[in-house]
Amino acid sequence: MHVIITGGSSGIGLEVARIYLSRGANVSLIARDPERLETARQSLLSQAAPRRTGARNLRIHTASADTSDAERLEAAVADCLSANGPCDILIASAGIVEPSAFDEQESSVFEAQISTNVFGTVNAVRAVYADMKRRGAGRIMIVSSGAALIGIHGYTAYCASKSALAGFAEALRGEAGEHGVSVSVCFPPDTLTPQFQAELPKRSPQARKLMGAAPPWPATKVAERIVQGVEKRAAKVYFGFEITALGLFGPLVKPLVFWWYGRT
Ligand SMILES: NC(=O)c1ccc[n+]([C@@H]2O[C@H](COP(=O)([O-])OP(=O)(O)OC[C@H]3O[C@@H](n4cnc5c(N)ncnc54)[C@H](OP(=O)(O)O)[C@@H]3O)[C@@H](O)[C@H]2O)c1
Repeated sequence: MHVIITGGSSGIGLEVARIYLSRGANVSLIARDPERLETARQSLLSQAAPRRTGARNLRIHTASADTSDAERLEAAVADCLSANGPCDILIASAGIVEPSAFDEQESSVFEAQISTNVFGTVNAVRAVYADMKRRGAGRIMIVSSGAALIGIHGYTAYCASKSALAGFAEALRGEAGEHGVSVSVCFPPDTLTPQFQAELPKRSPQARKLMGAAPPWPATKVAERIVQGVEKRAAKVYFGFEITALGLFGPLVKPLVFWWYGRT
């Protein structure tokens, strides 16, 4: 089994890689920074080696690319395919967030979030989809966010990008299912990762109020749920009571949430 993970050098993607590796899969990690990729590879090797007959049996391939650059990403995926064989599972986890009030954010920063989160994911899917379809097999998991399910103060670009992924996944699932390919989308909550640690100080008081004081989930737990979702070919994967309620009953729940948090 070959699992390709964009954003596999850190956070949720890295924890997903750990799980698949522990199950004997060949894993390919794609991200921009080659040093971070190598650090992630070493960390996976050191963890997984004792469980296997030897580190040389582990196939952990890394390829550096910006997912928003379709050509470079395609080349990186091709490199992963020649190292580890056809892609059975794609986890599209690469993503960025830059909280800021809409009118205080440079348009380039806004666009970078749309570009990485939406087009980066679409490019990753495009790079593996045709071959999955041809083989009549494959699973794709798109990592969206709880921020796709409710508008959050200071997260205009991020909410727009992550809700776009929900629509993309739902529409593609309808097409792909006919060809034996499953498309899933997950909506993680706050998760303790480098992204979350960088984001938290930039969060507005209004966003803090809405998102509550609940501690972030461990990345390992989020990764476990993601892998379960892939196994079940689940259409959507929610995490915890609030995100599940928003996902299943959003139109009913959201007016109440906004009323509650809008009180002075
Ligand atoms: N942490 C949370 O609270 C949370 C909650 C909900 C959803 N999410 C989503 O979960 C996903 C993973 O987030 P995380 O918290 O695990 O973040 P993270 O620890 O910052 O990891 C992000 C990964 O994506 C890669 N990446 C970012 N931009 C990229 C690009 N343009 N091209 C290729 N790789 C890129 C990063 O490596 P390089 O920088 O080297 O490229 C890194 O490997 C993201 O889509 C995020 O939006 C996170």
